Amino acid sequence: MAPPPPLPRLLAGLALGVLLVAVAADDEGRRRLPRCSRVFSFGDSLTDTGNAAILPATAGGPFTRPPYGMTYFRRPTGRASDGRLVVDFLAEALGLPEPTPYLAGKAAADFRRGANFAVGGATALDPAFLRGRGVTSFVPVSLASNETRWFHDVLRQLAAAADDEHAQRTIAASSLFYFGEIGFNDYSFALSAGNGTVDAAASLVPDIIGVIRSSVADVIAAGARAVVVAGMIPIGCEPEMLALFPPPSGGGATAAGGYYDPASGCIARFNDLAELHNRELQRALRELRRAHPGAAVVRYADLYGPVSAAVASPRKYGFGRRSSALAACCGGGGEPYNFNANFTGFCGTAGSTVCAGGPSASISWDGIHYTEATNRLVAHAILTSTTVRDPKS
Ligand SMILES: *[C@@H]1O[C@H](CO)[C@@H](O)[C@H](O)[C@H]1NC(C)=O
Ligand SMILES: *[C@@H]1O[C@H](CO)[C@@H](O)[C@H](O)[C@H]1NC(C)=O
Repeated sequence: MAPPPPLPRLLAGLALGVLLVAVAADDEGRRRLPRCSRVFSFGDSLTDTGNAAILPATAGGPFTRPPYGMTYFRRPTGRASDGRLVVDFLAEALGLPEPTPYLAGKAAADFRRGANFAVGGATALDPAFLRGRGVTSFVPVSLASNETRWFHDVLRQLAAAADDEHAQRTIAASSLFYFGEIGFNDYSFALSAGNGTVDAAASLVPDIIGVIRSSVADVIAAGARAVVVAGMIPIGCEPEMLALFPPPSGGGATAAGGYYDPASGCIARFNDLAELHNRELQRALRELRRAHPGAAVVRYADLYGPVSAAVASPRKYGFGRRSSALAACCGGGGEPYNFNANFTGFCGTAGSTVCAGGPSASISWDGIHYTEATNRLVAHAILTSTTVRDPKS
């Protein structure tokens, strides 16, 4: 197999300061995100660039096999996509190095250019806490118990002396903190435990938002000055969810009345849950800004908006037919979602194929994760809503 191509920089050749991150109209005014020299990122499989492939609980999973990675890296990299993730596009656009997956780093030198703590399958809440709510998690990693702890571990390594707080603050202050989407796994496990009823999942919202809030507060306390926090995706538009949770049986078409959003075909109450999460998250971020005035620029990154817009009008955003907007590109599940409720034919396993139009025409790559094309769209939306080009450049 040919060696991997070097990661091209989207804006190679431009000076680092060209993209200055400022703020669209919200209660932050137009404060610029300070210039950064590395990325520290957190989250689950939507942000994981190689940790789950190393973690014993998930190593060897389907995402470590072809056709994962086919579009860009031309080999599986541990990313749950055909190509790059949102965090890859953000780093490229800001001229920052690719952060090293935490579990792939062995020494401080490996993390000088940043670290990615996101793990595929990670939950926001600690697995023991979820068990107490009747919810089973499959990966022993959470934002609550592991990812922020790993960040402090890396910060201590980078500062050389574990007690050199000044050095640690200097490093944190010159880093971009990207909290990718987190909580999807908690909700999805709770939806399964509840057979598709949303009450159990919705009851987790305050706890999940609490974990994200305390993780963001934690990095601000460590000296962070630039923090971007992603919201929830449209859960009800996921091919996996659509395949696992058909409308309640018995009443034919009338039973489906209100189950699907008529405009998108997504499961309405699952999207309501995502919207609730996003409202509460934005409220928590406003509170954090008030609690730490001037300490850090804390931005909300909207994933829900761009993905929902693409599902509703795929052609407008460069995707294929409306009828395939809710289908996995890679899989073996057949019509209409190309996803099997018993997970046979999952992408990367026997019986799965890549869609005829290619991943770039699809929103969902494997029924759970997005294609590189969707990730690019989302990253672009984040950058245009949170960044402006320095007028001098
Ligand atoms: C995550 O933290 C929990 C609680 O401390 C621990 O039991 C678990 O082993 C940690 N996971 C990893 C992969 O280190
Ligand atoms: C879900 O369905 C299973 C099997 O039909 C049933 O045993 C279980 O009690 C249900 N759980 C809930 C929370 O309704």
